Amino acid sequence: MSEHDLERLRSLTSIKWNRFDDDVLPAWVADMDLPPAPVSVEAVRALVDRGDFGYNFHAAKQLPEVFSAWEERRHGWRPDPERVRVFCDVMQAVDVALWTHCKPGDGVIVFTPVYPPFLRSATAGGRRMIDCPLKRDGWRLDPERLAAAAAEPGARAILLANPHNPTGRAFSAEELGAIALVAERHDLLIVSDEIWCDVVHPGSTHVPLASLSEAVAARTVTLSAASKAFNIAGLHCAVGHLGHDGVREAIEALPGHVLGAVGSPGAEATLAAFTQGEPWLSDTISHLTAMRDHLGARLAAELPLVRFAPPQATYLAWLDVSAYELGDDCAKTLLDEARVGLSSGLDFGEHGSGFVRLNFATTAPILDEIIDRIVTRLS
Ligand SMILES: Cc1ncc(COP(=O)(O)O)c(C=O)c1O
Repeated sequence: MSEHDLERLRSLTSIKWNRFDDDVLPAWVADMDLPPAPVSVEAVRALVDRGDFGYNFHAAKQLPEVFSAWEERRHGWRPDPERVRVFCDVMQAVDVALWTHCKPGDGVIVFTPVYPPFLRSATAGGRRMIDCPLKRDGWRLDPERLAAAAAEPGARAILLANPHNPTGRAFSAEELGAIALVAERHDLLIVSDEIWCDVVHPGSTHVPLASLSEAVAARTVTLSAASKAFNIAGLHCAVGHLGHDGVREAIEALPGHVLGAVGSPGAEATLAAFTQGEPWLSDTISHLTAMRDHLGARLAAELPLVRFAPPQATYLAWLDVSAYELGDDCAKTLLDEARVGLSSGLDFGEHGSGFVRLNFATTAPILDEIIDRIVTRLS
């Protein structure tokens, strides 16, 4: 692995490279080891060069229209810019949407295993999480389980990640249609977190849930950001299409400063990504797909007992390592004994035991070293 890459990465103050001891290679939180999109870097640099740190809504004001155009060009859905609002981050928008719509005791359906903050958001404020596990074979939606979940007394909302973290599923129009149907039947709000929609591998397609129909859009809050695709999560900027009138009105009625305002670096970096970032993104996805396939090929050849459904989207691999008897917390064992920092499956809900999540958004030499270390420990 190149010393140059490692030197840069070890100099970062981000949590990814600072959580573990120096000899550990981290592959956990969903930041990329690749430098962020140059157009976003340049946008922030221009602010710095101008000393342009005063109150500033230059980019934030443009984002609703720009996001709408980006979404239409890339995913064939044109959200109404009038209904698009800028948030500080996606999880802020998730929390506020659920908080305005649900009361204590209400149930929020989540599809597990799932991005750990979803588990906390579903249960915050006295809410109840209603677990709807995906089918283990290919991580497809289980319509029967969903119907049962929605029929539970007090079910009030669905919190969906599409594409899905950690499994990398880009749900099909058919699966999304099943979710929409159940939501309609039980009058549920859908919060569709589509933060990963621009990291989709060739051969798969992202279908925005709200694109299914006007009626579906009217019960959906769609959230997105440039953060995952362009590697700018620390700049904190997200966008939300508030298709659901009740949530939109409740958010508009909040006292003006409750949600804060996005900072100009985040807004400028996002604006640059959504207006000029496409060529870089396409090269980056080629690299990520190559890393995904390389990981898959090495696992198949060298650790055939690891079960792995290659993700259709994201740069996250959800690995079933249960055949290797690594104890209750497989990630902890691999940290201690292989010196790789993966995410623990246990954090993704009760069905995550025996799994680890590996972030493969890194250079080929670093990924190879991570795989070498795991292979050495498991062989
Ligand atoms: C599905 C999903 N939603 C939300 C987030 C976090 O987004 P933000 O930092 O904008 O809150 C992540 C981060 O990895 C994610 O995977």
